Amino acid sequence: MAFHLDLLLGVVLMASPLLGISPCSSDGQRAFYRFCNLTQVPQVLNTTETLLLSFNYIQAVTATSFPFLGQLKLLELGTQFTSFTIDKEAFRNLPNLRILDLGKSQIGFLHPDAFQGLPHLFELRLFSCGLSDAVLKDGYFRNLHSLSRLDLAYNQIRSLSLHPSFSELNSLKSIDFLLNEIAVVCEHELKPLQGKTLSLLRLASNHLYSRVSVDWGKCMNPFRNMVLETLDVSLNGWTADITRNFCNAINGSQISSLVLAHHILGPGFGFQNMKEPDRDTFAGLARSSVIRLDLSHGFIFSLNFRLFEALKELKLLNVAHNKINEIKDEAFYGLDNLQVLNLSYNLLGELYNSNFYGLPKVEYIDLQKNHIGIIQEHTFKFLGKLNTLDLRDNALQTIDFIPSISYIYLGGNKLVSLPNIALTANFIQLSENRLESLDNLYFLLQVPHLKILILNQNRFSSCNPSHAPSKSLSLEKLFLGENMLQLAWESGSCWDVFKGLSRLQVLYLNNNYLNFLPPGVFSYLTALRGLSLNSNRLTSLSPNDLPPNLEILDVSRNQLLSPDPNVFASLSFVDITHNKFICECELSAFIRWLNQTNVTIFGSHADIYCMYPDSLSGTSLYSLSVEGCDEEEVLKSLKFSLFILFTVTLTLFLTTVLIVAKFRGFCFNCYKTTQRLVFRDQTKGRPYDTYKYDAYLCFNSKDFEWVQNALLKPLDAQYSDQNRLNLCFEERDFVPGENHLTNIHSAVWSSRKIVCLVSRHFLRDGWCLEAFSYAQSRSLADLNSALIMVVVGSLSQYQLMKHESIRGFVQKQQYLRWPEDLQDVDWFLHKLSQHILKKGKEKTDNDVQLQTIATIS
Ligand SMILES: *[C@@H]1O[C@H](CO)[C@@H](O)[C@H](O)[C@H]1NC(C)=O
Ligand SMILES: *[C@@H]1O[C@H](CO)[C@@H](O)[C@H](O)[C@H]1NC(C)=O
Ligand SMILES: *[C@@H]1O[C@H](CO)[C@@H](O)[C@H](O)[C@H]1NC(C)=O
Ligand SMILES: *[C@@H]1O[C@H](CO)[C@@H](O)[C@H](O)[C@H]1NC(C)=O
Ligand SMILES: *[C@@H]1O[C@H](CO)[C@@H](O)[C@H](O)[C@H]1NC(C)=O
Ligand SMILES: *[C@@H]1O[C@H](CO)[C@@H](O)[C@H](O)[C@H]1NC(C)=O
Repeated sequence: MAFHLDLLLGVVLMASPLLGISPCSSDGQRAFYRFCNLTQVPQVLNTTETLLLSFNYIQAVTATSFPFLGQLKLLELGTQFTSFTIDKEAFRNLPNLRILDLGKSQIGFLHPDAFQGLPHLFELRLFSCGLSDAVLKDGYFRNLHSLSRLDLAYNQIRSLSLHPSFSELNSLKSIDFLLNEIAVVCEHELKPLQGKTLSLLRLASNHLYSRVSVDWGKCMNPFRNMVLETLDVSLNGWTADITRNFCNAINGSQISSLVLAHHILGPGFGFQNMKEPDRDTFAGLARSSVIRLDLSHGFIFSLNFRLFEALKELKLLNVAHNKINEIKDEAFYGLDNLQVLNLSYNLLGELYNSNFYGLPKVEYIDLQKNHIGIIQEHTFKFLGKLNTLDLRDNALQTIDFIPSISYIYLGGNKLVSLPNIALTANFIQLSENRLESLDNLYFLLQVPHLKILILNQNRFSSCNPSHAPSKSLSLEKLFLGENMLQLAWESGSCWDVFKGLSRLQVLYLNNNYLNFLPPGVFSYLTALRGLSLNSNRLTSLSPNDLPPNLEILDVSRNQLLSPDPNVFASLSFVDITHNKFICECELSAFIRWLNQTNVTIFGSHADIYCMYPDSLSGTSLYSLSVEGCDEEEVLKSLKFSLFILFTVTLTLFLTTVLIVAKFRGFCFNCYKTTQRLVFRDQTKGRPYDTYKYDAYLCFNSKDFEWVQNALLKPLDAQYSDQNRLNLCFEERDFVPGENHLTNIHSAVWSSRKIVCLVSRHFLRDGWCLEAFSYAQSRSLADLNSALIMVVVGSLSQYQLMKHESIRGFVQKQQYLRWPEDLQDVDWFLHKLSQHILKKGKEKTDNDVQLQTIATIS
């Protein structure tokens, strides 16, 4: 699939057979003698089919230079580093030669009979050989009855007077005279070609008709009685007048494709001296059945009234790379059969309803790379056959003019939001715009028949929670790379954005700053086969995170620490290069899996490396040994026997303890009630200091519901009048729109204590870890223990120690664990409140030692 196509292609190229032959040798069929310092033709086997002899020092080939090579099809003899002579019938021992390449040789002498005896020669390459008119005039090519392609580009030919023998070359299809010095071609010179059909006649870059003035009355029609599939007269410096005269002169000759690129028609931008082409310029082509006209790369500023009127059969018009700023009324009038109109790379700034009048069959309009800022609403609406509209790289701010067509390209514009219009399309490309709200995505997902939607490089980051769930039964590919979906998803909304996409096969979410995947966000994507999460900030993945039938996953350039191999087990291909693996025993299952899995792992072994510990940093996972990591299992079995041994004792003991323990919560409540009744006044008093909040509760937003029930309801004053504490937390107290770090910073400094609720989610959340570090540095600055760490859920010491800031804290200070048993909660909260209310500058006592572990409900 698309992600790794280049990689696979690379492998195929490596295996390409020609590279297998060593230089200056032969394998019987192919003889490879380029750059071999040869001064004469080497002896090769008579089975040779391809003989490559370019880049040597061969000075002459004569009738006896070559041994008889009945099988030879291709001879490459160009680019000899010396001047080089080709004698009479030099190739007669090669009777089946099909392609003879003499290009880029300084041919000092070429015998007029040099090419005799080559009845099967199909292609003759004589480009850049310093040849003059003589090569055409003197019958060098006579008897080459199979000759189809003749390449005479880059020579010094001044006149095209052809030897009469050209008329016998019945196979001739293509003649290339690019970059010669042919100033004029007239009817009598090309007489031997009359009656022929050529697929290509190239006369480009010759200053043809532009150096000398031409008497067309005498010269007449050079292409009389010829059918030319492609005539290339580019780069000849043609003005509007030269073009008009030429078109009139060739009146009636059939030319399917006229290439007139790199011309000087038109004044350009800001000049007046050169004439704009007009209604007369191409009038002479009316009977030539021109189907393709290439007028690209020139200086046309204005497309004039009925400019192309005569070209009734034209299907493709290319005026790209001009200076077109203006489309006059009826400019395209008469182009009754035009299908493709290329106006790209021009200077159009606005389009009007009347601009495309007279194009009943146009299917494709290419307007990319103009400066279009505004388009009148009906500009395209009456073009009944229109299928594709390319408006990339313009300056559009709205798209209300878009008709219902199949392919819409709108990348590189200035769209901030999309209007609510009725749209139908198979393909919409909107990359490199400024779309911000996911509302636009929900809108696009409603477009009927949409199969491919490209939204890379926008700014998707905000989410308005009130819209209908997405639904598209046609969408197959969705490109959302290089956006900011993290910002939308971390607010807890738009998690259903992929819910209705049951046909989606490929999804790109690369470069979206993602540090978590909303639970179940992919679970409805039952058809998804390829997913790119490349270049995000994911630290872990769980099997439930991925869509059910995924085959190809790209999670390279994330921050995976210690992945669970089961996540990848059902895939066919995975890319996990450039992550931040922690190479400790916990990774051993993953390392073992890597070594033996059938899943194809993309990338080189060296790109799957450790990040931690420092001693292994940069080491490939493939070079690690997992020996010695099985101790954990030894430990487990030991634990098991211990368990058996003490079960009996424990059972007896526990029965006793349970009875007491069962009622300890009840006892504590009784104690509290008594205390409240007795010391009512004292407990109402609060310690006074300058802090705005008593505590800043720092936790991952996914834990919010739990925190609300467990801590906020029983402690926070805004939740209940009974509570005394003034707490601060992100969801309520952070200034919206303010930079997140600034918010954290001010929360840390305006609270007496910072309570970090360290859960699994907390450890995966870069912001939480950041806040933890902040709080820690404040503790250091204040010389007090402002930071209270509460471990929530079954986190092992190892998991805590993985994070540097937490490791530092755990090693030096006490921390709390959320109680496992519900009845301990009241007591825990009481202790926590005491901690929060305790003034600074004193060490944490050893009185709190809760070591029970609970899971978040
Ligand atoms: C050709 O000659 C040059 C200069 O003498 C030498 O460096 C090069 O190796 C020679 N090449 C071969 C293929 O013999
Ligand atoms: C090649 O030359 C050998 C003798 O050297 C001859 O026997 C054989 O028939 C020749 N093969 C062809 C295809 O000409
Ligand atoms: C082209 O030739 C036709 C018939 O030969 C003639 O009627 C017509 O006027 C000519 N057009 C031009 C522009 O010379
Ligand atoms: C139009 O011309 C541009 C520039 O040459 C080219 O890149 C583009 O592919 C052309 N469009 C079509 C539809 O051929
Ligand atoms: C990988 O597998 C091979 C044999 O399948 C084994 O010899 C080697 O020790 C394994 N390496 C690791 C790191 O597991
Ligand atoms: C890999 O494929 C082989 C043959 O299909 C199978 O025997 C083996 O169990 C597979 N290994 C894993 C790890 O799936």
